[in-house]
Amino acid sequence: MSEAVADKAAGAVAERFTELYGAEPHGVWAAPGRVNLIGEHTDYNDGFVMPFALPHQAVAAVSRRADGVLRLHSEDVEGGVRELRLDDLSPESDKNWTAYPAGVVWALREAGHAVTGADIHLSSTVPSGAGLSSSAALEVVVALALNDLFSLDLRGWQLARLCQRAENVYVGAPVGIMDQTASACCEAGHALFLDTRDLSQRQIPFDLAAEGMRLIVVDTQVKHSHSEGEYGKRRAGCEKGAALLGVNALRDIPYADLDAALARLGDEEEVRRLVRHIVTENERVERVVSLLESGETRAIGPVLAEGHASLRDDFRISCPELDLVVDTALASGALGARMTGGGFGGSAIVLAEEPDVDALTKAIQESFAAAGFTAPRVFEAVPAAGARRLR
Ligand code: GLA
Repeated sequence: MSEAVADKAAGAVAERFTELYGAEPHGVWAAPGRVNLIGEHTDYNDGFVMPFALPHQAVAAVSRRADGVLRLHSEDVEGGVRELRLDDLSPESDKNWTAYPAGVVWALREAGHAVTGADIHLSSTVPSGAGLSSSAALEVVVALALNDLFSLDLRGWQLARLCQRAENVYVGAPVGIMDQTASACCEAGHALFLDTRDLSQRQIPFDLAAEGMRLIVVDTQVKHSHSEGEYGKRRAGCEKGAALLGVNALRDIPYADLDAALARLGDEEEVRRLVRHIVTENERVERVVSLLESGETRAIGPVLAEGHASLRDDFRISCPELDLVVDTALASGALGARMTGGGFGGSAIVLAEEPDVDALTKAIQESFAAAGFTAPRVFEAVPAAGARRLR
């Protein structure tokens, strides 16, 4: 998003805040959604991920309060201003969108940070339920605003941890740390190579346009939900695998030891598949990083496609729509393609030579029409900035 566009968005959100709450906001902040280039479901296994930020973002106009009251409003949801007392915030008490911002306030206070109340107005362009981290964007924008307004002096990765805690405990979704860290820490023009064990990070330059390529996102419009069972089942299966193998997390199984580890799992077929995905996926992230760092960008295509096959066949979290995007893209000359995010719907990414993008998009749209699927939403993704203050 260009600075002029960001400024306009900030202006509109600030104006609406003033209408709603009767005074100008103390500030306006933004936090983006993300796509993940590679490294899926590795984050709750202490592994590697490589997301980058989208230009789609949640914007929040916020003012401090000192009276223990939290007022919340979203441009994107019907229902007016919601008023809560900070002392009443309690985990899993709220099944609405308000659980995300309220959960962040709860997590900050629970960690001992003196947040005494706020008026918040939110507006987001991150499509929800599309696997593009609309929830993390909401959490991180609120966390960053409160961090600034209450001078908490927390770093991006610390805010990410608090946002994850809000989502795990307050919302009740057992997600990993990737999305919140991506939203908080990504930089424009870069993908974020993140070690989710200690949150150490490296910004990897990722400028496809300069090399004549594009990355397109295909939102299948199939909605997913992480609070529902399948994500949690995969997570529990991975934890079982780590326990059977006697390691803290599957991250601790080196790629070179995969066959021996699988042999030790004997007839635990379900767990073997999960372990195989996680161990090979961590290796794929490292391979992509080294290809990008040695300037062999086109060569990441087949690695993305391998990652998809592993998610489809071993981790089993794809769906017919995601597979159709990937199969059609690969058959129509894409360099690589894979589902991105939690799975069971949501979005896929397609890496392509710039001149092939229109034909590929058309082929995907036609394949969806022929299969009788809802038309997908297709857009180009260029790595954008992470969370920041707009005014
Ligand atoms: C969701 C979760 C992340 C991560 C991905 C899968 O986006 O929020 O923590 O586990 O799924 O890689």
